[in-house]
Amino acid sequence: MQLVFTNSLRRHLIKLSIAATLVVALTSCKKPVAIDSEIVIGEVGSMTGSEATFGTSTHNGIELAVKQINAVGGVKGKKLRIVSLDDQGKPEEAATAVTKLITQDKVTAILGEVASSRSLAMAPIAQQYKIPMITPSSTNPKVTEQGDHIFRVCFIDPFQGTVMAKFALETLKLKKVAILRDVKNDYSVGLADYFTETFKKGGGEIVVDQSYSAGESDFKSQLTAIRGKAPEAIFVPGYYTEVGLIARQAKELQINAPLLGGDGWDSPKLKEIGQDAINGSYFSNHYSEEDKSPNVQDFISKYKEAFGVVPDGLAAMGYDAAKVLADAMTRAPSLASKDIRDAIAATKDYSGVTGKITIDAMRNAVKSAVVLKVDGGVFKYQTTINP
Ligand code: PHE
Repeated sequence: MQLVFTNSLRRHLIKLSIAATLVVALTSCKKPVAIDSEIVIGEVGSMTGSEATFGTSTHNGIELAVKQINAVGGVKGKKLRIVSLDDQGKPEEAATAVTKLITQDKVTAILGEVASSRSLAMAPIAQQYKIPMITPSSTNPKVTEQGDHIFRVCFIDPFQGTVMAKFALETLKLKKVAILRDVKNDYSVGLADYFTETFKKGGGEIVVDQSYSAGESDFKSQLTAIRGKAPEAIFVPGYYTEVGLIARQAKELQINAPLLGGDGWDSPKLKEIGQDAINGSYFSNHYSEEDKSPNVQDFISKYKEAFGVVPDGLAAMGYDAAKVLADAMTRAPSLASKDIRDAIAATKDYSGVTGKITIDAMRNAVKSAVVLKVDGGVFKYQTTINP
């Protein structure tokens, strides 16, 4: 039989080939790209690795916020959907993750990271694509300096360093402090410098300044050098895994001076790793679970209901970051990047669970800090320090 190409057959064949092309195009993109009834938000965090509680707690906080926002209709009639990627605590993975979220998942905005070194790896990429990024808790000043699309809902380290230096001088009445900093960590190096500056200005002396690199587990030689200078306290602005080990090794070397630190200590794992050795030490933080204000207590009870544990500071910051983003998207005239960016920048007196959030001209939040004491396995509230 001879195939006769009538006009109608030709038209059918053309239709078929268009349909086949469409099917190939649709099946070749595996992930559902944002549909019109939702807003896709990207999240990058350390869900695994030695800072896993940073990522998982932040994620839980974000998830709770999104659930609450969606329960009352979402933003501009659209539901929020979070696409969350694990960077395993590595800056290069954080950079890959943010690129994927922007180019493949087509996210409207980014939440993350916690650690400043990883936010610093992500920020230039978000800025390049002009996708607004809010870090819940990266405190190093350089993070938001990466561009006008990069924000944070926490205070910065020049303030946090001053808080602990003043607490050491005025409340603990200390004059001689040693420093033990993580040189692989932008946050740790910055905070050690800011602490030193204020402590010296206030008449204190830094008797020795030692360093380590994240991932190490033997701190005996640094601690022996520190013991030789007989400090009244050791300022260790690192993350909880190393800080817990440092506390134990200090006790093994008969060092009884308390440790002082920053928000990087905030993890339920600190007490697990540091055990009794970490008791009697102090650190600055974003939030205290002892805060009696009704919105904080309501957040704590909802979080406990959802996850079975009391939220740490990271969870509270993740929650606030997601809520501030949703608030900005609600106020924005449209969901265009520029409108969202401008609305985040205009955030004023937002009442979060970590305090009142106002974004300043440098895209940082101006907020108070709390000082907590590690005491028999709990973080006991000591004081609040205003900017
Ligand atoms: N502020 C830390 C940083 O910038 C991260 C952090 C925040 C860790 C809060 C614990 C709690 O690297």
